[in-house]
Amino acid sequence: RMAKMIESVMDLARGRLGGGISLSKAITAVEPVLDQVVAELVAAHPERRIETNFEVERPVFCDPARIAQLFSNLLGNAISHGAPDRPVRVEATAKAEMFELSVANGGAAIPEEARRRLFQPFYRGEAHGPSQGLGLGLYIAAEIAKAHGGSIELDSSEAETKFILRMPLEGDGSLRPHSAP
Ligand SMILES: Nc1ncnc2c1ncn2[C@@H]1O[C@H](COP(=O)(O)OP(=O)(O)O)[C@@H](O)[C@H]1O
Ligand SMILES: [Mg+2]
Repeated sequence: RMAKMIESVMDLARGRLGGGISLSKAITAVEPVLDQVVAELVAAHPERRIETNFEVERPVFCDPARIAQLFSNLLGNAISHGAPDRPVRVEATAKAEMFELSVANGGAAIPEEARRRLFQPFYRGEAHGPSQGLGLGLYIAAEIAKAHGGSIELDSSEAETKFILRMPLEGDGSLRPHSAP
Protein backbone atom coordinates (compact mmCIF):
# COMPACT_ATOMS: atom_id res chain seq x y z
CA ARG A 1 0.00 0.00 0.00
CA MET A 2 2.76 2.44 0.94
CA ALA A 3 4.68 1.61 -2.23
CA LYS A 4 1.55 2.33 -4.26
CA MET A 5 1.03 5.67 -2.53
CA ILE A 6 4.64 6.70 -3.18
CA GLU A 7 4.31 5.61 -6.79
CA SER A 8 1.13 7.71 -7.10
CA VAL A 9 2.87 10.82 -5.79
CA MET A 10 5.75 10.20 -8.21
CA ASP A 11 3.23 9.93 -11.04
CA LEU A 12 1.66 13.19 -9.91
CA ALA A 13 5.06 14.89 -10.05
CA ARG A 14 5.79 13.44 -13.48
CA GLY A 15 2.43 14.53 -14.83
CA ARG A 16 2.77 18.05 -13.47
CA LEU A 17 6.46 18.77 -14.00
CA GLY A 18 7.21 16.79 -17.13
CA GLY A 19 5.23 16.64 -20.31
CA GLY A 20 2.81 14.08 -18.93
CA ILE A 21 3.30 10.42 -18.09
CA SER A 22 5.77 8.73 -20.41
CA LEU A 23 4.80 5.44 -21.99
CA SER A 24 6.56 2.30 -23.01
CA LYS A 25 4.23 1.06 -25.73
CA ALA A 26 4.00 -2.35 -27.31
CA ILE A 27 1.51 -4.21 -29.46
CA THR A 28 -0.51 -5.76 -26.66
CA ALA A 29 -3.07 -8.50 -26.23
CA VAL A 30 -5.09 -6.57 -23.66
CA GLU A 31 -7.42 -9.24 -22.28
CA PRO A 32 -4.75 -11.07 -20.23
CA VAL A 33 -3.68 -7.70 -18.80
CA LEU A 34 -7.26 -6.97 -17.73
CA ASP A 35 -7.75 -10.52 -16.42
CA GLN A 36 -4.69 -10.13 -14.22
CA VAL A 37 -6.02 -6.93 -12.64
CA VAL A 38 -9.43 -8.53 -12.03
CA ALA A 39 -7.74 -11.55 -10.42
CA GLU A 40 -5.77 -9.29 -8.07
CA LEU A 41 -8.85 -7.35 -6.96
CA VAL A 42 -10.98 -10.50 -6.63
CA ALA A 43 -8.28 -11.96 -4.37
CA ALA A 44 -8.28 -8.81 -2.24
CA HIS A 45 -12.11 -8.60 -2.14
CA PRO A 46 -13.44 -12.17 -2.37
CA GLU A 47 -16.85 -11.05 -1.06
CA ARG A 48 -17.52 -8.76 -4.04
CA ARG A 49 -19.09 -9.79 -7.32
CA ILE A 50 -17.21 -8.63 -10.40
CA GLU A 51 -18.81 -9.41 -13.77
CA THR A 52 -16.60 -9.12 -16.80
CA ASN A 53 -17.34 -9.12 -20.50
CA PHE A 54 -14.18 -8.76 -22.56
CA GLU A 55 -14.29 -8.78 -26.36
CA VAL A 56 -10.96 -7.37 -27.35
CA GLU A 57 -10.01 -9.51 -30.30
CA ARG A 58 -7.58 -7.01 -31.74
CA PRO A 59 -4.22 -5.94 -30.35
CA VAL A 60 -3.92 -2.51 -28.78
CA PHE A 61 -0.79 -0.40 -29.13
CA CYS A 62 -0.37 0.71 -25.54
CA ASP A 63 1.73 0.58 -22.39
CA PRO A 64 0.38 -2.58 -20.71
CA ALA A 65 1.64 -1.64 -17.23
CA ARG A 66 -0.04 1.78 -17.46
CA ILE A 67 -3.29 0.34 -18.79
CA ALA A 68 -3.24 -2.12 -15.88
CA GLN A 69 -2.68 0.78 -13.46
CA LEU A 70 -5.54 2.80 -14.97
CA PHE A 71 -7.88 -0.19 -14.84
CA SER A 72 -6.81 -1.08 -11.30
CA ASN A 73 -7.59 2.48 -10.19
CA LEU A 74 -11.08 2.39 -11.76
CA LEU A 75 -11.89 -1.10 -10.52
CA GLY A 76 -10.54 -0.34 -7.04
CA ASN A 77 -12.74 2.77 -6.95
CA ALA A 78 -15.82 0.82 -8.01
CA ILE A 79 -15.17 -1.60 -5.14
CA SER A 80 -14.34 0.99 -2.49
CA HIS A 81 -16.80 3.74 -3.49
CA GLY A 82 -19.63 1.65 -4.99
CA ALA A 83 -22.51 -0.02 -3.15
CA PRO A 84 -21.09 -3.20 -1.54
CA ASP A 85 -24.27 -5.19 -2.23
CA ARG A 86 -24.25 -4.50 -5.97
CA PRO A 87 -22.03 -6.16 -8.57
CA VAL A 88 -19.31 -4.30 -10.43
CA ARG A 89 -19.59 -4.68 -14.21
CA VAL A 90 -16.57 -4.41 -16.46
CA GLU A 91 -16.70 -4.34 -20.24
CA ALA A 92 -13.95 -4.05 -22.81
CA THR A 93 -14.27 -3.88 -26.60
CA ALA A 94 -12.13 -3.02 -29.59
CA LYS A 95 -14.32 -1.68 -32.36
CA ALA A 96 -14.06 0.94 -35.07
CA GLU A 97 -10.39 1.65 -34.27
CA MET A 98 -11.25 2.40 -30.65
CA PHE A 99 -10.46 0.53 -27.47
CA GLU A 100 -13.19 0.99 -24.86
CA LEU A 101 -13.07 -0.09 -21.25
CA SER A 102 -15.90 0.62 -18.83
CA VAL A 103 -16.28 -0.01 -15.12
CA ALA A 104 -19.74 0.36 -13.56
CA ASN A 105 -20.96 0.15 -9.99
CA GLY A 106 -24.15 0.72 -8.05
CA GLY A 107 -24.63 3.31 -5.32
CA ALA A 108 -25.73 6.91 -5.11
CA ALA A 109 -25.12 9.12 -8.15
CA ILE A 110 -22.06 11.33 -7.92
CA PRO A 111 -23.29 14.87 -7.21
CA GLU A 112 -22.87 17.53 -9.91
CA GLU A 113 -20.50 19.57 -7.76
CA ALA A 114 -18.14 16.60 -7.27
CA ARG A 115 -18.14 15.65 -10.97
CA ARG A 116 -16.15 18.69 -11.95
CA ARG A 117 -13.46 18.01 -9.35
CA LEU A 118 -13.18 14.20 -9.42
CA PHE A 119 -10.22 14.12 -11.79
CA GLN A 120 -8.25 16.79 -9.95
CA PRO A 121 -5.28 15.65 -7.84
CA PHE A 122 -6.06 15.02 -4.15
CA TYR A 123 -9.81 15.34 -4.62
CA ARG A 124 -11.73 12.87 -2.46
CA GLY A 125 -15.42 12.60 -1.75
CA GLU A 126 -16.62 13.31 1.78
CA ALA A 127 -16.89 9.67 2.91
CA HIS A 128 -13.28 8.72 3.46
CA GLY A 129 -11.27 7.47 6.39
CA PRO A 130 -7.55 7.31 7.08
CA SER A 131 -7.27 3.91 5.38
CA GLN A 132 -8.47 5.25 2.07
CA GLY A 133 -6.64 6.66 -0.91
CA LEU A 134 -4.98 10.00 -1.53
CA GLY A 135 -7.38 11.15 -4.19
CA LEU A 136 -4.82 10.65 -6.96
CA GLY A 137 -6.30 7.56 -8.63
CA LEU A 138 -8.61 9.28 -11.11
CA TYR A 139 -6.11 12.03 -11.83
CA ILE A 140 -3.48 9.45 -12.74
CA ALA A 141 -5.97 7.34 -14.70
CA ALA A 142 -6.93 10.43 -16.72
CA GLU A 143 -3.24 11.26 -17.35
CA ILE A 144 -2.62 7.71 -18.59
CA ALA A 145 -5.65 7.94 -20.90
CA LYS A 146 -4.43 11.29 -22.23
CA ALA A 147 -0.94 9.94 -22.88
CA HIS A 148 -2.58 7.26 -25.06
CA GLY A 149 -4.56 9.86 -27.03
CA GLY A 150 -7.74 8.95 -25.16
CA SER A 151 -9.95 10.15 -22.34
CA ILE A 152 -12.09 8.95 -19.45
CA GLU A 153 -15.74 9.85 -19.30
CA LEU A 154 -18.10 9.68 -16.37
CA ASP A 155 -21.73 8.67 -16.63
CA SER A 156 -23.38 8.68 -13.21
CA SER A 157 -27.06 8.32 -12.35
CA GLU A 158 -29.10 6.69 -9.60
CA ALA A 159 -29.02 3.50 -11.67
CA GLU A 160 -25.22 3.24 -11.82
CA THR A 161 -21.92 5.08 -11.94
CA LYS A 162 -19.79 4.25 -14.93
CA PHE A 163 -16.29 5.36 -15.91
CA ILE A 164 -15.44 4.80 -19.58
CA LEU A 165 -11.98 4.85 -21.11
CA ARG A 166 -11.92 5.50 -24.85
CA MET A 167 -8.68 5.52 -26.81
CA PRO A 168 -7.53 4.76 -30.34
CA LEU A 169 -6.39 1.15 -30.89
CA GLU A 170 -3.16 2.52 -32.27
CA GLY A 171 -2.36 4.60 -29.21
CA ASP A 172 -1.60 7.98 -30.76
CA GLY A 173 -1.68 6.71 -34.32
CA SER A 174 2.04 5.97 -34.49
CA LEU A 175 1.43 2.46 -35.82
CA ARG A 176 0.08 3.92 -39.05
CA PRO A 177 2.39 3.58 -42.04
CA HIS A 178 4.46 6.67 -42.70
CA SER A 179 4.02 6.47 -46.47
CA ALA A 180 1.17 8.24 -48.21
CA PRO A 181 -1.99 6.19 -48.85
N1 LIG B 1 -16.81 4.40 -8.88
C1 LIG B 1 -17.03 5.44 -8.08
N2 LIG B 1 -18.25 5.60 -7.50
C2 LIG B 1 -18.49 6.67 -6.70
N3 LIG B 1 -17.59 7.62 -6.41
C3 LIG B 1 -16.37 7.52 -6.96
C4 LIG B 1 -16.03 6.43 -7.81
N4 LIG B 1 -14.74 6.58 -8.21
C5 LIG B 1 -14.31 7.71 -7.63
N5 LIG B 1 -15.26 8.28 -6.87
C6 LIG B 1 -15.14 9.54 -6.09
O1 LIG B 1 -14.05 10.27 -6.63
C7 LIG B 1 -13.07 10.53 -5.61
C8 LIG B 1 -11.69 10.53 -6.25
O2 LIG B 1 -11.29 9.23 -6.68
P1 LIG B 1 -9.75 8.86 -6.68
O3 LIG B 1 -9.02 9.92 -7.45
O4 LIG B 1 -9.57 7.46 -7.16
O5 LIG B 1 -9.35 9.02 -5.17
P2 LIG B 1 -9.51 8.01 -3.92
O6 LIG B 1 -10.09 6.72 -4.44
O7 LIG B 1 -8.12 7.87 -3.42
O8 LIG B 1 -10.42 8.72 -2.96
C9 LIG B 1 -13.29 9.46 -4.57
O9 LIG B 1 -12.86 9.85 -3.29
C10 LIG B 1 -14.81 9.27 -4.63
O10 LIG B 1 -15.46 10.27 -3.86
MG1 LIG C 1 -9.18 5.70 -5.95
